[in-house]
Amino acid sequence: MSRVAYVNGVYRPHGQAVVHVEDRGFQFADGVYEVWSVADGRLADFEGHMTRLFRSLGELRIDPPMSREALTRVLRETVRRNRVRDGIVYLQVTRGTARRDHPFPPPGTPPSVVVTAKSMNFDALEAKAAKGITVLTQPDNRWGRCDIKTVGLLPNVLARQAARERGAGEALFVDDMGLVTEGASANAWILDADGVLRTRDTQANILRGVTRRTLLDVIAEAGLKVEERPFTPEEMAQAKEAFITGAGSLVLPVIAIDGQPIGGGAPGPVAKRLRSLYIERAKQTAV
Ligand SMILES: Cc1ncc(COP(=O)(O)O)c(C=O)c1O
Repeated sequence: MSRVAYVNGVYRPHGQAVVHVEDRGFQFADGVYEVWSVADGRLADFEGHMTRLFRSLGELRIDPPMSREALTRVLRETVRRNRVRDGIVYLQVTRGTARRDHPFPPPGTPPSVVVTAKSMNFDALEAKAAKGITVLTQPDNRWGRCDIKTVGLLPNVLARQAARERGAGEALFVDDMGLVTEGASANAWILDADGVLRTRDTQANILRGVTRRTLLDVIAEAGLKVEERPFTPEEMAQAKEAFITGAGSLVLPVIAIDGQPIGGGAPGPVAKRLRSLYIERAKQTAV
């Protein structure tokens, strides 16, 4: 089935969906994005992603392109036109198109909006989760505002490529203090040697993952111990279990770090349980 993308007010065939050469997203990475997981054709963790989108726009002083309600309609329509049942919907908003110059364009320059959606094979994702992935550590060389979900992802791209070249499924950034911050496109977690779930606190320079936030609620309801406290790659290697979270990966077990097996070198029971609890919750609350 042919895909359809929304670009600045028009739904176009994917191959013909284009933005201007002087779009500031293209010229300066001057834009933000969001990704929703689509479950049974509905948007998971809807409010969390929408709220973060408006926060990202506010932090960069990009005018919201339209109301939340109008954006919601575009997201739903893009999902519908692409007949996505399981997959993701991607939204990008940039500071618009203007003659290339670093300062902001004149007031009133309309932001650019792009929405795409794609189907993902749920069974293949489940098979991947059942096997688990390996991760590779990389120095965290990103800017100091990783709380903003900008399209400026070059360090993430390079880190993920390094991971791929070493056969790993995700890169984990490690800061100057030798502590794991997060993945190239996911938050990182361990079940430490004492049986406590741990993920980096949001005072650190990380993206406040929406999946992370929902999973903290799921963990509390399941009565498991959790701490928002950093860990080192060595602690991850010695952990009972590890996993990453994100709208694309949901809850994905990690079975080795830098070639060292974690736990038994296979997905652990807690990660597997949290994955199914998260998916159940996402489906129940998707809108
Ligand atoms: C750097 C980074 N950290 C964490 C996440 C996970 O965030 P969320 O759970 O909101 O998808 C992402 C998702 O794209 C990301 O790019």
